[in-house]
Amino acid sequence: MAVHPSVSVPGLIPAAAAGDPLARVDTPSLVLDLDAFEHNLRAMQAWADRHGVRLRPHAKAHKCPEIARRQLALGARGICCQKVSEAVPFVAAGIDDVHISNEIVGPAKLALLAQLARAARVSVCVDDAGNLADISAAMTQAGAQVEVLVEIDVGQGRCGVPDVAEAVALARRVQDLPGVSFGGLQAYHGSAQHVRSHAGRAEAASRAARLAAECARALRSAGIPCDRITGAGTGSAEFDAASGVYTELQAGSYAFMDGDYGANDWSGPLAFRHSLYLLATVMSRPVAGRAVVDAGLKSTTIESGLPRVAGRDGLRYIAANDEHGVLEVAADANVRLGDTLLLVPAHVDPTFNLHDTLVAYRDGVVEGIWDIAARGLSR
Ligand SMILES: Cc1ncc(COP(=O)(O)O)c(C=O)c1O
Repeated sequence: MAVHPSVSVPGLIPAAAAGDPLARVDTPSLVLDLDAFEHNLRAMQAWADRHGVRLRPHAKAHKCPEIARRQLALGARGICCQKVSEAVPFVAAGIDDVHISNEIVGPAKLALLAQLARAARVSVCVDDAGNLADISAAMTQAGAQVEVLVEIDVGQGRCGVPDVAEAVALARRVQDLPGVSFGGLQAYHGSAQHVRSHAGRAEAASRAARLAAECARALRSAGIPCDRITGAGTGSAEFDAASGVYTELQAGSYAFMDGDYGANDWSGPLAFRHSLYLLATVMSRPVAGRAVVDAGLKSTTIESGLPRVAGRDGLRYIAANDEHGVLEVAADANVRLGDTLLLVPAHVDPTFNLHDTLVAYRDGVVEGIWDIAARGLSR
């Protein structure tokens, strides 16, 4: 087989360089409007500060150390990751306070957790005594120490002990074991985040906060201090920060917003702007009513709906194939071959996971290309 050293892997050719106009960025590319992004970071940080709670943004949303650095520079206290491998590029980049907001099971993962815990302040969730014993053994073997938060199910029906008595029993167990220390509670209510109405989200969040408060009271009555109650996503942060119960917000998507979150009612005091787009090029204009862009399922996920075309009337994204996006074009819409379009992804987290880099721009000009370093790190 002949080797051609002058031909490089196309994926490694940068999509853009600083100073390029946005319209010249190669597509499909994930692009970030820095003015809207910075507005979102400031709005959430100010809300957390106003209520005296810590903001620990979830890095699972973006998987990008440069974004985490900017969140920390504005006052965030550490970050969250959902997987141990996901945390590696962040710790490697110097971020020294990471909460793994998830249960971590299995020897390979626990060995990596111990390695991280030797390099940074790390906390992790538990909802099972056997898993807790394994964490303790892995930490002891590696000479590491990890903070353990008992996760309680406050309504989502995912991980977490189902009741207060189990939470207290597990916290007591943490106190008895080496290599682990009891850090508090995780009380994240995922399904509250996308309740569309503002009043409905307030109600779901207040039910979760009541349960978390009841659990913290039971811990304190058992002589176990509970100073940290972490939870909250973009949809519930407004209420959780003001609840007097949560001490820490884990929101992630607020920095970007997506189509799904955009469908929530944001009539409260906290609102965010779309900052993340998928830049796509019109690659075919076969008939009057149809245009085809170069961004399909390999550039955006669609489990929360199809992307929306931003800032152009009469164009509707109606079908995603692997590499194609089919648009319906209204009779009076003007769209030509080669036009670039900004699409609002319906769900940011898995969409970030499809891209190696993020093109950050301001006023239509590229300012930087940031690595999505934890992309694909799902173990
Ligand atoms: C445990 C946990 N915390 C926080 C978040 C952040 O939520 P969001 O990106 O909706 O703000 C998530 C998202 O799924 C989560 O699973």
